[in-house]
Amino acid sequence: MSMTRNRILFGGDYNPEQWPEETWYDDVRLMKDAGVNSVTLGVFSWAKLEPHPGAREFGWLDRLMDLMHDHGIGVVLATPTASPPPWMGRLHPDTLPRDEDGRTEWWGGRQHFSHSSATYRRYAAAITEDLAARYAGHPALTLWHINNEYCTYDHGDEAAASFRRWLRDKYGTLDALNTAWGTAFWSQGYDSWDGILPPRRAHYLKNPAQVLDFRRFTSDMLLECFLAERDIVRRHTPHTPVTTNFMPLWSGQDGWRWAEEEDTVSVDLYPDPRDPLGAQYGALVQDLTRSQARGPWMLMEQAAGPVNWRGVNHPKPRGLGRLWSLQAVARGADAVCYFQWRQSRQGAEKFHSGMVGHAGEEGRTFQEIKQIGAELHTIGDEVAGTQVPAGIAVLHDWHSWWATDQDGRPSTHVDYPDVLRAWHRALWEAHLTADFAHPEHDLTAYRLVVVPQLYLLTDTAIDNLLAHVSGGGTLVCGFLTGVADEDDRIRPGGMDARLRELFGIRTLHEWWPLDAGETVECGGGLRGTLWSEEIEADGTADETVPYQGGELDGLPAVLRRGRAWYVSTLPAPEALRPLLARIAAGAGVRPVLDGLPAGVEAVRRGELLFLLNHGREPVTVDVPGPHRDLLTGATVTGRITLGRHGAAVLKP
Ligand code: GLA
Repeated sequence: MSMTRNRILFGGDYNPEQWPEETWYDDVRLMKDAGVNSVTLGVFSWAKLEPHPGAREFGWLDRLMDLMHDHGIGVVLATPTASPPPWMGRLHPDTLPRDEDGRTEWWGGRQHFSHSSATYRRYAAAITEDLAARYAGHPALTLWHINNEYCTYDHGDEAAASFRRWLRDKYGTLDALNTAWGTAFWSQGYDSWDGILPPRRAHYLKNPAQVLDFRRFTSDMLLECFLAERDIVRRHTPHTPVTTNFMPLWSGQDGWRWAEEEDTVSVDLYPDPRDPLGAQYGALVQDLTRSQARGPWMLMEQAAGPVNWRGVNHPKPRGLGRLWSLQAVARGADAVCYFQWRQSRQGAEKFHSGMVGHAGEEGRTFQEIKQIGAELHTIGDEVAGTQVPAGIAVLHDWHSWWATDQDGRPSTHVDYPDVLRAWHRALWEAHLTADFAHPEHDLTAYRLVVVPQLYLLTDTAIDNLLAHVSGGGTLVCGFLTGVADEDDRIRPGGMDARLRELFGIRTLHEWWPLDAGETVECGGGLRGTLWSEEIEADGTADETVPYQGGELDGLPAVLRRGRAWYVSTLPAPEALRPLLARIAAGAGVRPVLDGLPAGVEAVRRGELLFLLNHGREPVTVDVPGPHRDLLTGATVTGRITLGRHGAAVLKP
């Protein structure tokens, strides 16, 4: 279901309940000035809409919906269920979640709801029902936004009961659960469902299979909350798309499973302006979100300037906000929105930037917002709805992440998101556009499949990888892949036998994690970091790169057998980039453009070529053929100069 027609949505979270009504009129004037065509209303409005149990105060929202419509601004209408009013916790303590120590998360902040609380769910359904009924026919309504950044855990008693129900559904019998959890270890065998708890505070290491199932359960419970509200609004407005905003590369939800249930996939993205790889992190989240959406997606939130939740919160230098907005569009966004429209004067986020900051309409931020709004309007017609072609798939799976993100592992230095970022960075720096995919997805559209690290792989996923290679595709797997089955049980030999055969590995003798900062030299100048493995090859590999020196001297660090590659360390960035570029070239995947200067990103979307200069100095880029720069209207023949943080959107 499409959210836009030939245009890019531009706007942000709008929290008018924090302001006197006369400010609303000023807001609308400035929104028109900035080209805002979409606002998200009601995200944290529960106490305003339902000040007492069962009360309804819709008058203020009626006036706002009308005001937006009168000015041609669409409304992304949120259900307010991410922040229950204080009366709910006071009257119904059962709605409050508990952490692993049994401590209550009280009201006074936000997201203090238990996903398993029947009382919370009842109140959430009731307010959603009335909201949907009231605004179903309203012409300003363009999209439903359910809750906000679902992210809570609950270890309380009601959650424990629903965990048991979830486990009964999954396993059927206690025997099956005891087998899957390996409860023979440490005398953990359960003789009753009632004995099973969420993984609460324990004396020593917790059962990893129990922790893994708890994370699956949590994702499913939050999804139930989402689906309950989604189904209510769908009943009232079957033709209005529904979304909920994901956090970027967030571990709390199975993002593949969730995305299947959304009409529009949206994400909140806040790269650190000081991070030299902030743009790459942005590109990764954008590629992942596009892949979850299987097409255009929505940037629901970004910051116009600083956030307020890092240790030090840096503003965006001039031009960076525009550049990162265009990057999102290049990588498939059909909506570029912000948290939030007007910077709050009170509350926990008064130091978080807004599109209209404390400096008001004269402020630099707002001036830049106006430019972005105007430019997105100019290119919207050509861009919206088009696809980003990619010949590479990077495989990612939340379940594998959950299995590795636990105690009692070979190395605490191995951080799954960091490994993912390292591999994606190599592709990004080599100007190779990649999608993400689930290991069981259909991979036939991709010539190259990259697996940075999938510790946990189901049998079906392994079949899929083997089929990809036997079907003519190229596969490259990073270390610690194919180690465990879906119950987090180590596969015989420490790595799936079929994968070992695929790569030409006879025996994986030991994992040799490296200390922080330690490196290991390998042939061809390849320097490994983080990890190494004691592998005995079976003699069938077509190519190997050996470890040089140290305990593993002479043993293979990298093996290639046909089109299947195994990389048993994390090559340093200057080694991983050329390695992947070579593998991609061998697979017939070309970079977007050759000979790009450092710091320039190139992305194709539809027939357009986006050029983005992440550097602080102007650069000149050779572009074959004549083009028109949609941002300036200028004709470009042969080369174009991009200023500091400059960008071009070229049409042949
Ligand atoms: C998240 C939330 C917003 C706001 C921003 C601040 O993305 O959804 O409500 O708190 O963070 O960065």
